[in-house]
Amino acid sequence: MTDRNRIKKAFGEYTDKYDPSDVKISLKIDHTYRVAENAELIAKDLGLEEEGVFLAFAMGMLHDFGRFEQVKRYGTFIDRKSIDHAELGADLLFQDGHIWDFFDEEDLDMETSALIEKVIRLHNKLTLTEGLSEKEILFCNIIRDADKIDIFRVLAEVEYEDGKAGETKTSPDGARDSIMQCVREHRCVPRIGDRTEFEVWVSRYCMAFELVFPISRKLAKEQGCLAQILERQPQNVIEQEQLALIRTELAYFLQ
Ligand SMILES: [Fe+2]
Repeated sequence: MTDRNRIKKAFGEYTDKYDPSDVKISLKIDHTYRVAENAELIAKDLGLEEEGVFLAFAMGMLHDFGRFEQVKRYGTFIDRKSIDHAELGADLLFQDGHIWDFFDEEDLDMETSALIEKVIRLHNKLTLTEGLSEKEILFCNIIRDADKIDIFRVLAEVEYEDGKAGETKTSPDGARDSIMQCVREHRCVPRIGDRTEFEVWVSRYCMAFELVFPISRKLAKEQGCLAQILERQPQNVIEQEQLALIRTELAYFLQ
């Protein structure tokens, strides 16, 4: 029978094959359980039936399935330096058949399987693709919100090499302005070129603007990690002013 314990057990057996002393592996194991938990909380708050709440949990448990192979093969979480981990995870699950480690065949119909695959492939994309069904949009948003909430925790709590921000000391003219424009427009920052440490942090803060559901904003606020990472000390007066603007915009948005 496919239930939460079966899925957790299969996840444990799968991740046992990777090196738990690697902080990147243990971080993603913790992250997975928390995203699954967040997804359930969101789904419950949205009034979904038990079937939908269970599905949100399962998607949370599977959303970063590709992370473990990504770290093993490339030693990094940075997709643009390695591979799109969402596509890799979906390929491993649905092309190589790992989904059957988690589900009994009679418990997963084709429609639900296609839904899980789509949600995994889209969980890390800047925006959702056009033409999705209402149900696809709903579950994509549940997982994307659940993921973002825990990313704030990881950024606040975990030290690891890939997490260190900033590839460059100065960025091209206008790059800072276009990032600050995203702050004013309350949207995520598109990934283009190398960025300074401050710009990387701004793009992380901006993820909060795309929390879709009121419960997600509530969970992010209660968890406190976003507030914690906003306490960073800026390097100069300009950054100080920009950070003040970000704090104001976020406080307004999360209200
Ligand atoms: Fe992910």
